[in-house]
Amino acid sequence: MPSAIFTFPKKFLWGTATSSHQVEGQNKNNWTAWEAAPGKILNGDVSGLACDWWGGRWREDMDRAAETGQNTHRMSIEWSRIQPEYDRWDENALDHYREILRGMATSGIRPMVTLHHFTDPLWFTEAGGWERDDAAEIFQDYVEKTVTALKPFVKDWITINEPNVYILNGYLLGLFPPGKKLDVPSAFKALSNMVQAHAMAYEFIHRRIPDSRVGIAINYHGLTPKTNNIGDRTLTKIFDANFNNSFINAIAKGKLNFVLRSKSLRKAKGTMDFVGLNYYTASQVKLSAYANQFLSFPEGVTLSDHKFMANQPESFYQALEWAASYGKPVIVTENGIENADDSLRPVYLADHLAQLWRAWNANLPIIGYYHWSLVDNFEWERGWSYRFGLWGFENATQKRIRRPSVDFYEQICKKNYIDSEDVAKYAPQSYDRLFKN
Ligand code: BGC
Repeated sequence: MPSAIFTFPKKFLWGTATSSHQVEGQNKNNWTAWEAAPGKILNGDVSGLACDWWGGRWREDMDRAAETGQNTHRMSIEWSRIQPEYDRWDENALDHYREILRGMATSGIRPMVTLHHFTDPLWFTEAGGWERDDAAEIFQDYVEKTVTALKPFVKDWITINEPNVYILNGYLLGLFPPGKKLDVPSAFKALSNMVQAHAMAYEFIHRRIPDSRVGIAINYHGLTPKTNNIGDRTLTKIFDANFNNSFINAIAKGKLNFVLRSKSLRKAKGTMDFVGLNYYTASQVKLSAYANQFLSFPEGVTLSDHKFMANQPESFYQALEWAASYGKPVIVTENGIENADDSLRPVYLADHLAQLWRAWNANLPIIGYYHWSLVDNFEWERGWSYRFGLWGFENATQKRIRRPSVDFYEQICKKNYIDSEDVAKYAPQSYDRLFKN
């Protein structure tokens, strides 16, 4: 008998998350164009074949997920495959997704499907993309086609993944297509169109599938002022309001506020059945003359391979409280760390799941957890050197490599609890933190 056990609620969703462009391979969308342009992706990497899910390797990865106790998987549908041209639908692509979903059902994996995860068809972006006045209507055609086709297989839907990251990287930092920098008017336009697109999708999915659950996935970045100075405190509030809160408040309350602009979007009010929380890390905020010094990690925290994130589980707890404050069930739709040799992942996992358990014990309505990710995949502008998978991946051979985190997560998923013996075995550095107080 283990000496201590953190038990999760019955029917808890235990899974992993992926997205179409990051795993499918052979895509033809605005990201493949972006990857082909010089200097956009670290080391000039391209998504290429990715994890070859389009070629059929989704099956072996889903088998791995099912065999290791996962009961759900969050995946996304690639808009550019379903609608390769404005006036052309690809029924074969829909069939391919149906085949994947059928395969998941056979293995006992409940799907959660994201309709938009960062990528757009080229014809859409070339015609103005999310800044177009009719962007939401155009997106809605794709939503209606896809939801109707996949209706028998899917109850849990995410309309748009991390609209806050799409806007930040695409319109303010220039890291994602369309590559605009500090273009607040365009950012506002695109954001308000995404809110409307979400609301229309929400209504449609509910009409078609009355017992569906529809939500968004927001990237919540923990933010605290570095000092008590008014400058640091004000900047923290500005980042928090615009990055963490603008989209979710718009769909909770029907009003979008973003960088001194606002718009009433009444139809969007109340269009979420759950809050999808993507949480990775937290930063301290400092007002500085140099924008690249605004955010930093506290001294002494453990950093990921490329210092992209820090292990800050207490801030995950705050993120869960934030998510629960919207009065809906909370699903952790992404959480994970880039760490190729797996020396940190088990610790990160143990520390974060302990906070998840603590939050559930404090009565926060948490119903599921999706680890990012099942297998290493194409990490956007950071290419292939950032490794987030439970399974490692060898690009040249498509070989999957079982990291120790697979075994640890398997124990948790199968038992529906974390126990002190598994923590002692897989994440000994977390043991005292979790069990000695
Ligand atoms: C995104 C994923 C990405 C992950 C790790 C999230 O912002 O939704 O697509 O791979 O973070 O950076």
